[in-house]
Amino acid sequence: MKIFIAGHRGMVGSAIFRSLSKSQDHQIITATSTELDLRDQSAVNDFINKIKPEVIIDAAAKVGGIMANNTYPWQFLYDNVAIQTNLINAAHKNDVEKFIFLGSSCIYPKLAEQPLREDSLLTGPLEPTNEWYAIAKITGVKMCEALRKQYGRSYTSLMPTNLYGPGDNFDLETSHVLPAMIRKFHDAMVSGHSPVTLWGSGTPKREFLHVDDVASAVLHVLNGSMDHSLYNLGTGKDLSIKELAEMVQGITGHKGEIVWDSSKPDGTPRKLMDVSRLGNEGWTYSIELEEGISDTYDWFLENVENFKEVKITD
Ligand SMILES: NC(=O)c1ccc[n+]([C@@H]2O[C@H](COP(=O)([O-])OP(=O)(O)OC[C@H]3O[C@@H](n4cnc5c(N)ncnc54)[C@H](OP(=O)(O)O)[C@@H]3O)[C@@H](O)[C@H]2O)c1
Repeated sequence: MKIFIAGHRGMVGSAIFRSLSKSQDHQIITATSTELDLRDQSAVNDFINKIKPEVIIDAAAKVGGIMANNTYPWQFLYDNVAIQTNLINAAHKNDVEKFIFLGSSCIYPKLAEQPLREDSLLTGPLEPTNEWYAIAKITGVKMCEALRKQYGRSYTSLMPTNLYGPGDNFDLETSHVLPAMIRKFHDAMVSGHSPVTLWGSGTPKREFLHVDDVASAVLHVLNGSMDHSLYNLGTGKDLSIKELAEMVQGITGHKGEIVWDSSKPDGTPRKLMDVSRLGNEGWTYSIELEEGISDTYDWFLENVENFKEVKITD
């Protein structure tokens, strides 16, 4: 298959790229954001029309944690709507057979019943700190659904839970909770086991999935015929942020104190995915959290000298 992976240098895109590159069966096409700005509609149309892929995997997005979402609502809304709209529309116009859209579990209402089922979409208000990003992603889900409904397109949305793994963003200004913890515990350990301050109360519960498991789910969708337009992607298991902190502390070898800064927001109290829909299609995760964090910490140690700061820009 001729496959265009949008966002192949990102954490998720690079895991998909690594996984698909193992097979000789696929011709993989990539473009960096400098070569092809996916917010540029005519450039995207020209590119897709020229390369004529059979499959597009959309792992390109403006991504960040609570602080970045809160500070840059315009970039999180506009960039994500533009990127996915241009790609999905170009796929449809050019008869691309399969489209796999990667979104996020933040599309579900803040107080939706746990574990989160796909049919809880649009049943209540969103978590305000990331509603800009969530609204963009909901639009992408609905675009794939509309094309499936009206034109019978095999366009599928995968909504992963919190992801982590090699290639993650460890810049404390824009990173997610798990890589931020790895960075903080590592830095504190290096500076003589100084105390580590973490946001919130530590009581919210979260679920985490290794990016190599995302790649395996993408492969599953690529090779199968999916009954639904929208699937949750996760492990179906969660733990408290406090338990996570203790796990990361153990893996990094930090021996100092953990201080919880309750003046900072906690976000959604619990976020656990109901993963039975994708389970019924025959897919399940394979990397347990402790093993996955160790693997990620090894990658961090090998790459810590080369990290770039990840800034949100216009
Ligand atoms: N990280 C998570 O915890 C998580 C959780 C759930 C879902 N997801 C979803 O997974 C997907 C990928 O996330 P990620 O963590 O891999 O993000 P990431 O590491 O920040 O990578 C995002 C990629 O998007 C590309 N990109 C951004 N703006 C672009 C533009 N204007 N034009 C072209 N390319 C652009 C970047 O390309 P360049 O490198 O070439 O600049 C980058 O490679 C997103 O849809 C996200 O919602 C992520």
